Amino acid sequence: MVSSAGRFAELDPLLPPPVPLASGERLRAVTASGTQVSAMLQRYRHGPGDAPLLWSAAEVWQLFPDPETAGTEGFDALLGALRSQVDTEAPGADSACVVNWPSRDAEAIRAFLDHGLVPLSALAVRPAVVPENVETDASIRLAGPDDYPVALALCTATFDYTGLVAHRKREQTAELLGPALRRALGEKATWLAEVDGEVAALAQCDWVESTPGSEAAELLPSGRWGYVNNVVTAPASRGSGIGRALMARAHRELLNQGATGTYLYYNPTNPLSSVFWHRQGYRPLWTSWEAHPAWALR
Ligand SMILES: CC(C)(COP(=O)(O)OP(=O)(O)OC[C@H]1O[C@@H](n2cnc3c(N)ncnc32)[C@H](O)[C@@H]1OP(=O)(O)O)[C@@H](O)C(=O)NCCC(=O)NCCS
Repeated sequence: MVSSAGRFAELDPLLPPPVPLASGERLRAVTASGTQVSAMLQRYRHGPGDAPLLWSAAEVWQLFPDPETAGTEGFDALLGALRSQVDTEAPGADSACVVNWPSRDAEAIRAFLDHGLVPLSALAVRPAVVPENVETDASIRLAGPDDYPVALALCTATFDYTGLVAHRKREQTAELLGPALRRALGEKATWLAEVDGEVAALAQCDWVESTPGSEAAELLPSGRWGYVNNVVTAPASRGSGIGRALMARAHRELLNQGATGTYLYYNPTNPLSSVFWHRQGYRPLWTSWEAHPAWALR
């Protein structure tokens, strides 16, 4: 059997070495051809004021297959075991089964699709390549604390759209976004594009260090990463090149300040952002496969 580090490196050279999970419940299964497979199962419950509700169900059963798991049969057996476990617990309507797995594992994808999981979100990375200049009529500037109301309205507009093409929008979206956005506006890593003096687009970014033992090291190679958190163009201004111009500026600034590369989460089911981010030089590293509600897992 290939070691777990070897298996991940074979799948995708950009994956960091797998990190053993500190907690969870061990699930075991045997494939039709007699191979033993196992995974850890973690359970989360988010309360009404918890920010993860922006991108997550309230009740989550998250499966972490052992990193050396290989082949459709193995994932098939593990997902069968997960379904049996979920059946013993009667999940509510606001629930999900989730598996976050290297995007390039095609054999695993066969099993995920067969079990009714959908690729709802992906972590994508972009190497440290300086972007070309983009001609634009928009003027681009750093955002600050005074921009909070317009920034909040734009960030909320992201969820009006992603609420149609990915996770459902929550009634309390603005309240959930508020605290992190206020902090972000004080940190000089959010840019706004203005057209005729009106704010037309926003790119809210941040810094994330991936060092051995850190949470980020579970997903990203070591380094100081620019995190592109929320990018949105006001609905009436979409498709006119503002997003490209804004990201050219944001990428250049993050790279000038020493970013190893940049990363973000996007929804593969989003017909605008999936095309936009791939053209911006991003490619998926991890894909989050989800069944909502949890009993939709087959
Ligand atoms: C993704 C998004 C930020 C892109 O911003 P934008 O200002 O529309 O981007 P641009 O105009 O620079 O580029 C959009 C691309 O889609 C094309 N496009 C064509 N018609 C379009 C339309 N009606 N709407 C959006 N894009 C359109 C553009 O031509 C362009 O492609 P190009 O590479 O050929 O130039 C914007 O579509 C948006 O806000 N979407 C909703 C929120 C969202 O999904 N955010 C991202 C979350 S990860």
